[in-house]
Amino acid sequence: MTDFIKTIIEDRVLKITFNRADKKNAITHAMYAAMAEAMADARTNDDVRAILFTGEGDMFTAGNDLVDFQQATSLEGEGPVMVFIKELVEALKPIVAAVNGRAVGIGLTMLLHCDFVYMAEGATISAPFVDLALVPENASSLLLPQVVCHVHAAEIFMLGKRVTATEAFEMNLINQVCSVEDVLEVATKTAVALGQKAPTALQATKRLMRGDLAPMQACIKVENDLFGTQLQSPEVAEAIGAFFEKRAPNFG
Ligand code: COA
Repeated sequence: MTDFIKTIIEDRVLKITFNRADKKNAITHAMYAAMAEAMADARTNDDVRAILFTGEGDMFTAGNDLVDFQQATSLEGEGPVMVFIKELVEALKPIVAAVNGRAVGIGLTMLLHCDFVYMAEGATISAPFVDLALVPENASSLLLPQVVCHVHAAEIFMLGKRVTATEAFEMNLINQVCSVEDVLEVATKTAVALGQKAPTALQATKRLMRGDLAPMQACIKVENDLFGTQLQSPEVAEAIGAFFEKRAPNFG
C-alpha cells in the first residue's frame, strides 16, 4: 500500500516503522491506512502478542502530514486517521514505543495510548496544535492532563513546549530514557518479553487497566468536531501556509 510504513512480525512482535525520513516521518493518509491494516491483522493473529512502534532516521514522527491537513475538510467518519486511532484506542495487545527521535503532534498522542514508552536521550516530545491553530486530538486533551497534570499539559498544548526525554520521564510520560543507540533494543526486549507471557491474562490485564473506554471515545468525538471546524478556518490556512513558506504565522 505504501513503502512509508514498514511492518514485520518477529518473535511474536509486530514491529511498525515510520519510514519516510526525508519528510521527517510525517504521516500521510496512506500511512495511517497501512498501520490500521497491520493492527487489524494483529488483532486476530495469534502469532502477534505485542506491537512495537519506531521511526527511521532522526525522528520518531513529525506528526500528521500538513499537506493532508491543508486538503482535509474534517476528521469525521471512518477516514484512515480515525480507523487507525480506533485500532490504537481499542487494542488489547500491549503496545511499546521506541521513540528514537523527536515526536510531534500525533507522535505524542500515540504515546498516550501505548503501554511502554522508551525515549532516546536528545529526543523531544511536543504537540504544537495551537501553533497550527488546531486543537488536541484523539483523547489527548483528556489523557495528557491526567498523566502530567493540567499546568504541564497547558505548556505543551498552548505554548507548544518541547519536552526533553528527562522531563518526559519526570512527568511520567515515558518508562525510561535510553541512549539513541540502545532505544530500539531496549523497547524490543520488552515487546519480546511480553510475547512470552500468557496472552489471555496479558490482554485481560490491559483491558482492566484501560477501564471504560466510553469517556475517551466521547472526548474524541468532541475533539473531532472542534478539530474539523478549525481545519476549515483561515487561522489554519495561515499557520500551515506559514510552515511551508518557512515564515512565522501572523494571526492578526
Ligand atoms: N508534514 C509535511 N511535511 C513535513 C512535515 C509535516 N508534518 N514535517 C516536516 N515536513 C517536511 C518539510 O516540509 C521538509 O520538506 P522539504 O525537504 O520538501 O522542504 C522536510 O520534511 C524536512 O523538514 P524540515 O522542516 O526542513 O526539517 P527540520 O529538521 O528543520 O525540522 C521539524 C523538523 C519536525 C521540527 C519541522 O519539520 C516541523 O516543525 N514540522 C511540522 C511539525 C508539525 O507541526 N506537525 C503537525 C503537528 S499536529
